Amino acid sequence: MPSLTIPVVTIDGPTASGKGTVASLVAQALGFAFLDSGALYRLTALSAINDGIDLQDEAALALLATGLDVQFIGEKILLSGQEVGDQIRAEAVGVAASKIAALPAVRAALVGLQHGFLKAPGLVADGRDMGSVIFPEARLKVFLTASVEARAERRYKQLIGKGFPANMTALLRDLQERDARDTNRQAAPLKPAEGAHLLDTSLMTIDAAVAQVLAWYREAASQN
Ligand code: DC
Repeated sequence: MPSLTIPVVTIDGPTASGKGTVASLVAQALGFAFLDSGALYRLTALSAINDGIDLQDEAALALLATGLDVQFIGEKILLSGQEVGDQIRAEAVGVAASKIAALPAVRAALVGLQHGFLKAPGLVADGRDMGSVIFPEARLKVFLTASVEARAERRYKQLIGKGFPANMTALLRDLQERDARDTNRQAAPLKPAEGAHLLDTSLMTIDAAVAQVLAWYREAASQN
């Protein structure tokens, strides 16, 4: 664990809950760095698919994750020097990411990379286990949820907006399967971290969710 004199805000929650958008806006508002930890699992999955690695071959996948050559430059993500663009947002890559994320050796291989994002003046980290495993001493922990229907609708719009094909029935089924896999796995299952504030955004705008997280952060910061 790195020293947490640098403040960290963790935003965990299920897929398509809007946490990525909320987390990046909170990071912008606070002038903090931003870690999209799901992108690291997606990048590992994409590399595995590209290299023809079996998605159950834990040792080979962990080796791949350890040597992941990734750079985040603003909105751009470079994998081995090549821009990946929206490829990692494809539903098939998300499903593969959820499968490899259940493997403890893959999770362990990505810990150091995630801790490396911590730098002054602060970090907002988004994922599944940011508050429970990666940054347990975070100043503020949020668990962001939304109903499965609201999340399927958001994911549908996101995929169509990026030019990917999408089908609501298949998306609902995918989300339910991924929720079950992320929640029931042994290694770092998806659940609210101890002391996390719960935020259900089913009926909330993004701006309202961001405002709530910032209000909680100001409250937490004033107590430190
Ligand atoms: O947040 P996302 O949909 O981009 O994440 C993709 C997958 O990666 C998700 O199904 C579970 C996994 N993941 C994880 O296990 N732990 C994290 N901290 C982030 C993502």
